[in-house]
Amino acid sequence: MIVCIGEILKPEQLQRVRVALDSGAFEDGRKSAGWHARLVKNNEQMQMADQKAQALRAEVEKALTGHPVFQMAARPAKMTPILFSRYRDGMTYGNHVDDPVMGRGAGRLRTDISFTLFLDDPESYDGGELVTDTSAGEQSYKLPAGSAVIYPSSTLHRVEPVTRGQRRVAIGWIQSTIREPAQREVLFDLDTARRQLFDREGKTAEFDLLTKSLANLQRQWVEL
Ligand code: NI
Repeated sequence: MIVCIGEILKPEQLQRVRVALDSGAFEDGRKSAGWHARLVKNNEQMQMADQKAQALRAEVEKALTGHPVFQMAARPAKMTPILFSRYRDGMTYGNHVDDPVMGRGAGRLRTDISFTLFLDDPESYDGGELVTDTSAGEQSYKLPAGSAVIYPSSTLHRVEPVTRGQRRVAIGWIQSTIREPAQREVLFDLDTARRQLFDREGKTAEFDLLTKSLANLQRQWVEL
């Protein structure tokens, strides 16, 4: 299940993030890539120790994790620190699959879900589509600024070359409390249906049964 979530960052937040990124210190993104991804990775990442990066990360993380659709789709247990990436001057990231385990010590996690939060208006740059390669074929994502796509980390994906302007994104990885993508999809669908039913008819007996099923399926599947 690949889910696009709109308007995670408000226009004034986006503006603040962009201004901070304009003066941030970036380094070669190959530093944080595994040996095979390094062969196809050509982008820049904001330096993790940068003071500005820390405040920005906290703001973006709060907006993302506070979004109800993100919670329903990802059901996060742990999340990596958010990374700010920049692509310009033909930069690209060829086909790769993200590392299955990331982080160190208490921050170590299994990557179940990857996300990309777009920070620049799609009209302001050419190229830079995130392309996922699944059994259903290739799918291309170039979302409005402030919107995010979340997808299973098991997916082969790439970023097309940026041939004009710059593509800046906030990215990160999540260990979900629900490990299996198919199970996450069942919970997402049930939760969506029950909320729509609630909006239409209120707290009916049918709503209560759906809520019970949702809770009890989570009880069977959840990993804390
Ligand atoms: Ni990737």
